Amino acid sequence: MLPCCPRVRSDGISGARSKVSGIVFAPYGMVWKQQRKFSLSTLRHFGFGKLDLEPKIIEELQFVKSEFSKAVGTAFSPFHVINNAVSNIICSMCFGKRFDYEDEEFRTMLSLIVRGMKLASNSPAMLINIIPLLQYLPFGSFKEVAQTVKDVSAFLKNIIAQHRKTMDPENPCDFVDFYLKEIDREIQKNQSTSFSEDYLFYIIGDLFVAGTDTTSNSVLWAILFMAAYPDVQERVQREISIVVGESRPPSLKDKVHMPFTEATIMEIQRMTTVVPLAIPHMASETVDFKGYIIPKGSIVVANLWSVHRDPSMWQHPDEFNPSRFLDANGNITRNEAFMPFGIGKRICMGEQMAKMELFLIFSTLLQSFCFKLPEGSEAPNMNGQFGLTLSPHPFKIIPVRHQTTC
Ligand code: HEM
Repeated sequence: MLPCCPRVRSDGISGARSKVSGIVFAPYGMVWKQQRKFSLSTLRHFGFGKLDLEPKIIEELQFVKSEFSKAVGTAFSPFHVINNAVSNIICSMCFGKRFDYEDEEFRTMLSLIVRGMKLASNSPAMLINIIPLLQYLPFGSFKEVAQTVKDVSAFLKNIIAQHRKTMDPENPCDFVDFYLKEIDREIQKNQSTSFSEDYLFYIIGDLFVAGTDTTSNSVLWAILFMAAYPDVQERVQREISIVVGESRPPSLKDKVHMPFTEATIMEIQRMTTVVPLAIPHMASETVDFKGYIIPKGSIVVANLWSVHRDPSMWQHPDEFNPSRFLDANGNITRNEAFMPFGIGKRICMGEQMAKMELFLIFSTLLQSFCFKLPEGSEAPNMNGQFGLTLSPHPFKIIPVRHQTTC
């Protein structure tokens, strides 16, 4: 099932909900383990969480910078460019291609996913989790969710079909090729296997959706926070100037020398918690947690947002203060209550990749541009809109070339 369709992870308990597949909402068990392991190792082959991915991200950032350059001095919404760029990074690993920012079909796909994520967690369609038959209702958000799933499914199935036609087993080029090769290998061994084209469809849906909306919202929040806190923006830019300069793009190797930039990204992630309730879990055993009995089969929702705003763990938790992540020597300091990617066995599979993307996108944009709020505009709404992810309300900023006045 696609993540833009509402559901709950069943953690291995039988019943209607355990039929879901993929990784994000797969029940805990052998199939989830096998599929997560295969996906991680194949994506690592393409540089996932490693320096090899850096050139791909830097290449995509050239397109982003070119779009931002066209908007210099004007009030501009960065939503579409950022969403498309982030999606392209995952698409190039999974499907072996990027999509032009003007590609109408892909634009529609991205907006369907954003809409689907909102409906999935903030509309009557959420009830599909409890009464699956509701997905067949021909009106309102039920109908919209069904149509969204249908359209996104058609897009992904078409990609798999094209790969089936063109794939060279001796020379697999992307995640889909590798997965198709694995299916053929397992079939040849004549083993019963969880690898199938159906499962592949769910996995690429997961990677495509989980890898786009989360990171893209984090980048959008980062742009908005920089426009709202010009003093922090200036300090990040000073660090970029000293460590990277202007003649080359920032690299992951610079990160260790840029603690304030890293602390700023962490503080933006803490303040915004883009996956505020993680993914719903289900208790696979009855447990006694601090005197509360949680019966087997209960849905357990981890409120990461509240952990990030807990006054017993953070001083003045509602204040934006990147320095809270720095020690007296200006080095990064960790806080165990910082968990934007969740914790435990089901921790985000894309954590390493997301951290790379956030650092490279944030530092590359700030190397070239300052972001300002349009004059006379209302103070931006920093609370966000709730879906499966917490996204900023639509906003416009003015990019200004960094070399000139900020
Ligand atoms: C800033 C970006 C991101 C944030 C904040 C984020 C956050 C999260 C969170 C909170 C979870 C749920 C953890 C839980 O239920 O306990 C999750 C799961 C997941 N994420 Fe991410 N994520 C991000 C980017 C990505 C990317 C780039 C990918 C892949 C390309 C990805 C793939 C996944 C997958 C596959 C899961 C399910 C893991 C499992 O159930 O085994 N995420 N993410």
